[in-house]
Amino acid sequence: MKPAFVFGTRPEIIKLAPVVRAFIERGVEPLLIHTGQHYDYEMSRVFLEELELPPIDHHLEVGSGTQAEQTGKAMIKIERVLMEEKPDVTLVQGDTNTVLAGALASVKLKIPVAHVEAGLRSFDRTMPEEINRILADHASEVLFPPTEETRKNLEREGITENVYVVGNTIVDAVLQNAEVAEKKSSILERLGLEPKGYVLITAHRAENTDSRENLTRLVEMLEALQMRAVYPMHPRTRKRLEEFGLWERVSSIENLTVTKPLGYLDFLKLEKNAFAIMTDSGGIQEEAIILGVPCLTLRYNTERPETVEAGGNVLVGLEKERALGYLQRLLEDREFYRKMAEAPNPFGDGKAGERIAEILLELYKKGELKVRSSRFI
Ligand code: UD1
Ligand code: UDP
Repeated sequence: MKPAFVFGTRPEIIKLAPVVRAFIERGVEPLLIHTGQHYDYEMSRVFLEELELPPIDHHLEVGSGTQAEQTGKAMIKIERVLMEEKPDVTLVQGDTNTVLAGALASVKLKIPVAHVEAGLRSFDRTMPEEINRILADHASEVLFPPTEETRKNLEREGITENVYVVGNTIVDAVLQNAEVAEKKSSILERLGLEPKGYVLITAHRAENTDSRENLTRLVEMLEALQMRAVYPMHPRTRKRLEEFGLWERVSSIENLTVTKPLGYLDFLKLEKNAFAIMTDSGGIQEEAIILGVPCLTLRYNTERPETVEAGGNVLVGLEKERALGYLQRLLEDREFYRKMAEAPNPFGDGKAGERIAEILLELYKKGELKVRSSRFI
């Protein structure tokens, strides 16, 4: 069997690495197609190296652009490679423009699509990711929702066949790398941080960074933080801060260290040892609950409601008072801190990658890995 992986951004590399590894362990050589949606060393290559992925077979160098430019360019280039390589299945992961491009290009060539992390819904159609998720799920033949809740989202949209709840491969990634990170990374020493003595911050999502008003609210929140904080900054945020004339304000906040985006081992170590995490990232909301670190999410909705229901995550949006109120409570109320930190991980046991490889190999052997004319037969 010849599985093709189409990916192009930081979280896709991290979350697909365990699936790539599972195929290799079963004697199957995967075909790796990198769209180049992320291209800086610290947004892409560092992860390929740290996670020891085999060499990329096709670098498509799509780069940045408007939504349509990026998606369209990626589609054209992915189609060419798929026509030449004729894989048996195309795996995509998550909700980026790369995913939408990969899914559309593949299904139209009648190469079945397997969607890893299917069924997530924020129920906010103004997010580019929400459109990508819905369309990718409907173009897919085999769907791997991480949880029962995400499976139900698919069912509500009429997708009930070839749906397998397998857990989220982020658990595999964390379990495979957290111990190595603890031993190898010297990030705490490099930044002069004490374990549990700082808040880890990330924010990059379009709704928080593309509007001057929202980005200003984020900056005001950072200025009001009374604790030591670290912010490994996504290039999108850095560019917008400069564009809106806000960068000087951020770089002069005394308690705050802003760094470039970090490699996975350094970042995992920073997460594990943080007092709390403030983020608008999807993957980091997941990692926080896996690692037992309270998470305050800088959004008004989440496609990971399981983390909120389990008690490990609170949505604070860009509401400064609400965010600082929760941080204060975490500092003062030990019982509250313990409850958030010990919230159960809803994303499975770290064997999602293996399950995905097994299921696809089984479908392939049975001759059932193909695009059917109707889902409802
Ligand atoms: C994308 C995904 C988002 C995901 C995120 C992971 C979409 C619609 N969004 O957002 O869901 O959470 O990746 O990090 O697919 N840039 C660089 N260097 C890079 C990459 C980007 O400087 O290597 C800058 C460019 O100015 C670019 C901007 O960041 O225009 C945004 O990049 P893009 O890939 O369009 O979206 P992300 O914000 O990274
Ligand atoms: N991450 C990293 N270095 C960083 C920031 C994030 O390695 O400086 C990892 C993080 O551990 C998680 C993933 O990148 O696994 C999340 O990616 P991101 O926040 O860019 O995207 P999202 O998950 O929101 O789509």
